[in-house]
Amino acid sequence: MSLQVPSRAKGGATPSTKAVILVGGPARGTRFRPLSLDVPKPLFDVAGHPILEHCLNAVAKVPDIKEVFIIGYYEESVFRDFIRDAARNYPNFSIKYLREYQALGTAGGLYHFRDAILKGRPDRFFVINADVCCSFPLTEMLKLFDDRDAEAVILGTRVNDDAATNFGCIVSDAHNKRVLHYVEKPESHISNLINCGVYLFSTECIFPAVKSAIKRRTERPRLVSYPSTEALDSSFFDQDDAEKSEVIRLEQDILSDLADSRQFFVLETKDFWRQIKTAGSAVPANALYLQKAFQSGSEEISKPSANILPPVYIHPTARVDPTAKLGPNVSIGANVTIGPGVRVKEAIVLEDAEIKHDSCVMYAIVGWSSKIGAWARVEGTPTPVASHNTTIIKNGVKVQSITILGKDCGVRDEVRVQNCVCLPNKELKRDVTNEVIM
Ligand code: GTP
Repeated sequence: MSLQVPSRAKGGATPSTKAVILVGGPARGTRFRPLSLDVPKPLFDVAGHPILEHCLNAVAKVPDIKEVFIIGYYEESVFRDFIRDAARNYPNFSIKYLREYQALGTAGGLYHFRDAILKGRPDRFFVINADVCCSFPLTEMLKLFDDRDAEAVILGTRVNDDAATNFGCIVSDAHNKRVLHYVEKPESHISNLINCGVYLFSTECIFPAVKSAIKRRTERPRLVSYPSTEALDSSFFDQDDAEKSEVIRLEQDILSDLADSRQFFVLETKDFWRQIKTAGSAVPANALYLQKAFQSGSEEISKPSANILPPVYIHPTARVDPTAKLGPNVSIGANVTIGPGVRVKEAIVLEDAEIKHDSCVMYAIVGWSSKIGAWARVEGTPTPVASHNTTIIKNGVKVQSITILGKDCGVRDEVRVQNCVCLPNKELKRDVTNEVIM
């Protein structure tokens, strides 16, 4: 493959922009179990829509974008129906799934498909990690890019100091927003401005940067990508050298170099941002997207009433008894049945589930076709609003703050399920607390 890099549109021509959404593959998203056992994470519904659709909605707000690539290593069939439907809903751009033959890493996939991305000579393209939930201020990123004649713009957000080292950390010039230093998951605190997983790259800059990283790695294989003790273990490296050597990651292998040598800027968002990593993290993501839809007056959000505490999304085919009280931050999927006197709060109830009368579901996800009996309680524990963590310590043990029932689970009448993760097809006949039920 040749590296045809267009020269930047200058002198009045509108620069052209594409978008890439990175979805990973079946080997990733393991922290999203048990939900990813039945639905690939990018297609899981939060606030009534697949995670991937929230990314497409953001892209659709940038009129300039005419082509979107979804890059991952799931089989083609996984996204076929989604893309067919999306083509109808987003007529202003084409959507194509590009499948990596194996996991190539967040930069390796971009490089592998560079000819497709560079076709038509776009000046720049967005890269969006599918597993983030935010308001995707893509237009502001474009503006910063143009104003500063940037080669790369990264979206950043502030987190609590003690959480920062779990993310990629950005040191920037407060005045001109230039990225001075980038370290992925540093060992000690360097900044609380972190990488949101949304980028805008000039085509002129990013592909040569990835090419240099590949070259460096070829020359010094053990020092790039795997600087851990794992990489220094020769049995690890020999074992599947060929496979691992093709993995190139933006976060570890590219961004710190861009900070050293390039016109690299950060747009700091003050709006919401969360990662969707664990299955439990779908609950805060659901809440954030519902709040955004409610604030923007979306028709999809149920009208507030004595029994609807906004925001609440109810699929048109769901049957909710008028005496059930729902909200805030609740999504009810297709064909769900909710009986009289039920209380649902901070929860996602997935397609075909049933909750019988006088039960209570809070801080929880109820899996597809699961059945909750009468007077039962399925509940998690609230976490602080600013927390990026979905685990809590209870009696000295780390447990999930969100209770999750996988597909086709049953909870008998009067049973209480608290801070548990329940794999698909389990029947809970007695009270359970702080357990993983396999
Ligand atoms: P941490 O966030 O560091 O815990 O790692 P992670 O593996 O959970 O996520 P990572 O930052 O590696 O992935 C960011 C996004 O890129 C997610 O949407 C992943 O699905 C996606 N992704 C990760 N690896 C690959 C890959 O090899 N190919 C493609 N196409 N996407 C990937």
